[in-house]
Amino acid sequence: MIPLAEPNLSGNELSYLTECVTGGYVSSVGGFVSRLEGMTATAAGAPHAVATASGTVGLHVALVALGVQPGDLVILPSYTFIASANAIAHCCAEPWLMDIAPGSLTLNADHLAENLTTRTERRRDGLYHTPTGRRVSAVLPVHALGQPADMDPIVDLARNHGLPVVADGAAALGAHYRDRLLGEFGADLTVVSFNGNKTFTAGGGGMVLGDDARLTERVRHLSTTARTGPGYEHDAIGFNYRMTNLQAAVGCAQMERLGEFLAVKRRLQADYEAALAEIPGLSPPPCPDDRDSACWMSTLVLDPAVDAAAVRAGLRARHIDSRPFWRPIHAQAPYQKAPRGSMAECEALWPRILVLPCSTHLSTEEQQTVIAAVKEVMQ
Ligand SMILES: Cc1ncc(COP(=O)(O)O)c(C=O)c1O
Repeated sequence: MIPLAEPNLSGNELSYLTECVTGGYVSSVGGFVSRLEGMTATAAGAPHAVATASGTVGLHVALVALGVQPGDLVILPSYTFIASANAIAHCCAEPWLMDIAPGSLTLNADHLAENLTTRTERRRDGLYHTPTGRRVSAVLPVHALGQPADMDPIVDLARNHGLPVVADGAAALGAHYRDRLLGEFGADLTVVSFNGNKTFTAGGGGMVLGDDARLTERVRHLSTTARTGPGYEHDAIGFNYRMTNLQAAVGCAQMERLGEFLAVKRRLQADYEAALAEIPGLSPPPCPDDRDSACWMSTLVLDPAVDAAAVRAGLRARHIDSRPFWRPIHAQAPYQKAPRGSMAECEALWPRILVLPCSTHLSTEEQQTVIAAVKEVMQ
């Protein structure tokens, strides 16, 4: 079986892990944690970075640091991995689900504008969702599959309505929006994942990026049990959300290969698109011209008339890993009651997403095998 995406651990991972063990620094105190924070901040063009145990908890602590309270609504595009919605639910808040834009994989800024104008009202203590009477406390755009959301209008709308922005950039390290780096897109906080299936992995882990030193220090404080000093004194109900030195050691070895891994991901996507351009029923993923995706997963979109399940079964029969990709949040059991508008774009797109093998160490022969199998199955 040619797997979808496996970690590429052929760099300094083992030697850095050995350094942790021989040096005795295996917990969240250790040089690799701050080194990974520095490397990620530099790669993203962000002044500050705080390492966390996962992307999900990074999103959670970011929302808490920005004041999301139980009962609130947080605006979220429905097309995302369930962790984005879960982070909101972990605040005892609920997602207010919106559609993605035509021609992209990300939040529809026009839809956001219309909803903010027609379905919210400003009260003394904040912005309220008129149909439910609940406070709206943040916007959480997602850079889906590494493709940046349309951040300029989203951030403007959020600012004009007094809402902070937490961006889910789980797989977007290396992406560009209007020639800016991930940490320069305008969100108050941006969260990256170092999960095992990401382009850069730490086994598991996350990183919260931001410009405002006080805000990122708040994230660090909350994610370190809100401890105020060497004694066991704590000034808030914090979390044990720090990344360990073991995770960070792997992450540093991965980040040393940032340029190489990103180039491979982009080449794999481009090669699939070029080799399959003439095959009827397949097209490249929609991506507006002002965005440069980090190409986390090599992705193609099937025409509506194509039987996606049959294509995936055909690939699996040819020993090529293929499975359905994200089911949107509005179609997930725990979020059935979440407020939402029309999901026409999301509904039209998600069943047609086809992800293809894209490990950074996928050989040319393996990619050719995948391409030949896709051609056969599509015929
Ligand atoms: C869009 C998105 N958000 C959040 C996450 C959660 O990150 P983690 O697995 O590190 O908790 C992931 C990936 O796993 C993701 O793809």
